[in-house]
Amino acid sequence: MRLIKAKIRDSNFFFNLRNSPEVRRNSINKKKIDLKSHQEWFKKAIKKDKIFKIVNKQKKDCGYVRLKKKSKVFFVSISVRKEFRGRNLASKALTKIEKLVPAKTEFAAIVKKRNIISKNLFEKAGYNVSSKNKNSLFLKKNKKK
Ligand SMILES: CC(C)(COP(=O)(O)OP(=O)(O)OC[C@H]1O[C@@H](n2cnc3c(N)ncnc32)[C@H](O)[C@@H]1OP(=O)(O)O)[C@@H](O)C(=O)NCCC(=O)NCCS
Repeated sequence: MRLIKAKIRDSNFFFNLRNSPEVRRNSINKKKIDLKSHQEWFKKAIKKDKIFKIVNKQKKDCGYVRLKKKSKVFFVSISVRKEFRGRNLASKALTKIEKLVPAKTEFAAIVKKRNIISKNLFEKAGYNVSSKNKNSLFLKKNKKK
């Protein structure tokens, strides 16, 4: 499995993934995104988010992982296409992306309470639930070295 930097030509891949039913169901913003606003967002996101990677296995684009820095914390966003799930790709992608940031970085993820798969994924990767609200869990992890 490789992490490849997302480029402008990958716009459609992200558009389709983002609008797939379960990704929408598990997102904070559930609305269907129209192509024009996606393209505008994507152009900025690949510039601004320095760490925005495609999860690629045997030349197939299987999903993405992205780190978005807010003050000192890196917020993780991850998704794997349905046909590639359950093969440990998300776990491996989380391990790999941690290597791209300095030591002692703090990671965080916001997960819907009912998204048990995601909660399991992050806990297996060493994240702990640090707070909750009505619908979401806030998970954190500190990179030690
Ligand atoms: C969450 C998601 C990225 C997991 O991708 P994946 O590549 O299938 O995950 P992995 O195969 O690496 O599994 C890692 C761990 O997640 C959990 N997990 C994965 N599939 C699961 C399932 N069907 N049921 C319960 N737990 C599951 C397990 O803890 C698993 O570890 P294990 O296999 O040792 O038990 C994927 O399901 C997805 O894209 N979901 C929709 C988008 C989303 O919810 N993103 C996260 C928003 S915060």
